[in-house]
Amino acid sequence: MSRSFSAPGRVNLIGEHTDYNEGFVFPAAIGFFTTVEITPRPDRTVHLESEHYPDTFSFPLDDSDARARHSWTDYAQGVALALHHSGYPLTGANLSIRSDVPMGAGLSSSAALEVSCGLALAAASGHAISRLDLARVCLEAENEFVGMRCGIMDQFVSTHGREDSAILLDCRSLEYRVIHLPASVRLVICNTMVKHQLAGSAYNERRRDCEAAARQMGVRSLRDVTAAMFAESSAALPARAQLRARHVIGEIERTERAAEALAAGDLTLFGRYMHESHESLREAYEVSCAELDLMVELARAQPGVHGSRMTGAGFGGCTINLVDAPYVNQFRREVAAAYREATGIIPGIYVCRAVEGAHEITT
Ligand code: GLA
Repeated sequence: MSRSFSAPGRVNLIGEHTDYNEGFVFPAAIGFFTTVEITPRPDRTVHLESEHYPDTFSFPLDDSDARARHSWTDYAQGVALALHHSGYPLTGANLSIRSDVPMGAGLSSSAALEVSCGLALAAASGHAISRLDLARVCLEAENEFVGMRCGIMDQFVSTHGREDSAILLDCRSLEYRVIHLPASVRLVICNTMVKHQLAGSAYNERRRDCEAAARQMGVRSLRDVTAAMFAESSAALPARAQLRARHVIGEIERTERAAEALAAGDLTLFGRYMHESHESLREAYEVSCAELDLMVELARAQPGVHGSRMTGAGFGGCTINLVDAPYVNQFRREVAAAYREATGIIPGIYVCRAVEGAHEITT
């Protein structure tokens, strides 16, 4: 008998490139899902197929020398291996995957794939896995098997998302607070439809820069550096490390304050923090690009917009915009037309709801 499991993509409202520095992030799971239909097999093989790729792939569960193939299947295979390492022995299964999470757009299509496969594999093998364990296993798969040194934000929110809410997560303690989004605004995501080549290597390079800056300042991570400490000791850092650390330290503080502002219903203040975040990502962290900057500029010129910024790792992908509900249609029309006029590219514009994290689909 088959069962189905779904995991959502995510958008980050604020707190960018802070997760791997043990800081705060403030994402929401959004109504785009990857769904896995799983059927048990009598042997020790996992077979993968996806609606979106012509190739299928089978791997034995007992192959401890398995290596990434640089294919979409790495995410599922990495999760199977990580489950096994983490004390969740698996039985064979056929997995059939479909997804409406826009791919390569910075909305965590990879985390949605990992989490949906992880939940399906664990459940079909008789394990009740906690949401936190599932997030950790999926992060291990991405760090160790796929080789992307990301932080825990995407996997955490894909497992812990809440309806109509964003999650303020402390990436050091993994404590979190669910903050309800005001009913008067919509999360509008604008997809620039561009993805610049250097994304993967530049991400790992930023992370190395941050780790080096923390080492030079004698702390475990940039989370431990206050604004006052930074002002005193940053002059000793090389110029590039200074810039990177400036963003991270400011963004960690901004994210906590921004979440407070949203919880208090102060959308104007929240929007101001979003703008500061974008400027810092552009100038100091240097992960924005011309298309993202243009999309933000176009959004800011629209009525009913509280805040607009790039979201996710950067170098293309999407912006997140907080827009008053009555202005959403006008926003969509005018931003799409102006972006197309300036770039020749038709953008994707998605009006999203915040949703629950990964779950079994019961009919
Ligand atoms: C990607 C990573 C996350 C996070 C963001 C930047 O989405 O997967 O862990 O670092 O970039 O905030």
